[in-house]
Amino acid sequence: ASGPLLDQFGRAGTDLRVSLTDKCNLRCTYCMPAEGMNWMPQESLLTAAEVVRLVRIAVRDLGVTQLRLTGGEPLIRPDLEAIIAGIRAEHAALPIAITTNGIGLAARAAKLAEAGLSRLNISLDTIDADTYAKLARRDRLTQVLDGIDAAQAAGLSPAKINAVLMRGVNDDQAAELLDFALARGLELRFIEQMPLDGDHGWTRANMVTAEEIRTQLSAHWDLIADDIPRAGAPAQRWRVYPHATTASGTVGEPLGRVGIIASVTEPFCSDCTRTRITAEGKIRSCLFSHEEFDLSLLLRSDADDAAVGQAWRQAMWLKPRAHGMGRPGLDSDEYVQPERSMSAIGG
Ligand code: GTP
Ligand code: 5AD
Ligand code: SF4
Repeated sequence: ASGPLLDQFGRAGTDLRVSLTDKCNLRCTYCMPAEGMNWMPQESLLTAAEVVRLVRIAVRDLGVTQLRLTGGEPLIRPDLEAIIAGIRAEHAALPIAITTNGIGLAARAAKLAEAGLSRLNISLDTIDADTYAKLARRDRLTQVLDGIDAAQAAGLSPAKINAVLMRGVNDDQAAELLDFALARGLELRFIEQMPLDGDHGWTRANMVTAEEIRTQLSAHWDLIADDIPRAGAPAQRWRVYPHATTASGTVGEPLGRVGIIASVTEPFCSDCTRTRITAEGKIRSCLFSHEEFDLSLLLRSDADDAAVGQAWRQAMWLKPRAHGMGRPGLDSDEYVQPERSMSAIGG
């Protein structure tokens, strides 16, 4: 039995995100409380062999065409290189990415590339050490910057930078971050803060909107919307030009590109191509699902691949249409924050 991971609204889950741990060595305020979370028990985490099997089923039988390994922080897994190598051995052409905070990456970037990692996204919300220490509640900026250098040296590209702006913390640093990214040939994406934090502290007023970010950047650069179709990708992309070049009519090569992921103010649920597996092997059809299907029970029984695939297809069929109660709107009155927070879903 095979066939794509369709849902009742006509979307297909072709983009698989597997969380490898809910743990993290940072405590970003938009994500986790200072004291951390109630971590998943070690024995409940998917093993390397289980991850390799799930990816095998997803790619061979369910139409998955790209993979991202996430966390928490995926570099917390000492067997990350082994997991990637195990997947790569079976899928020569599969794009395999990770989303990481970059801590410890300096020592592992070359090994990850060698294991078969295709590319990575690094979370970096500020290039100011004091702001970093305040926002991530750990003083680790230097390690992250070293990690970015190592990833580029290892040929892991394109490396993208994810940044969340928080009011009163780093909301005046958008231009500084873009300068940094342009100088290094990195694609920076700003992400609107979503109500998925462990503290349940999100408010609409504290969220820095895509529109505000565009306004800030436009004070320094000319932005022209990219005409390349987004096709389910969350980021709206803009070409960045020095000021006034576009008005003069001589538009040449841009300085680079910047993306904005406007999950709250401009939801893209109708084009979503994602499906997720939590670190404990639960199918999460959407970031905002209130229900999960526990695949680990099947994985740890004698169920064959066909049974696992069938259960996965059934769970995906029930993927919610959008993140309000049936209609888009994270800031609508009807929105109920799911119990699981960002770090336990995998972003
Ligand atoms: P690429 O575009 O392939 O590089 O990956 P990505 O942007 O999907 O991956 P990344 O893990 O870097 O995700 C960046 C952010 O996009 C996440 O932290 C979320 O804020 C947002 N995002 C990812 N998936 C979804 C989704 O299904 N729904 C919504 N609303 N936002 C998402
Ligand atoms: N809203 C938006 N993005 C978030 N991230 C973590 N928590 C939130 C949130 N509440 C981002 C991180 C990382 C990615 C996986 O998710 O910055 O880049
Ligand atoms: Fe860790 Fe990522 Fe959450 Fe920051 S956003 S605490 S880096 S899981």
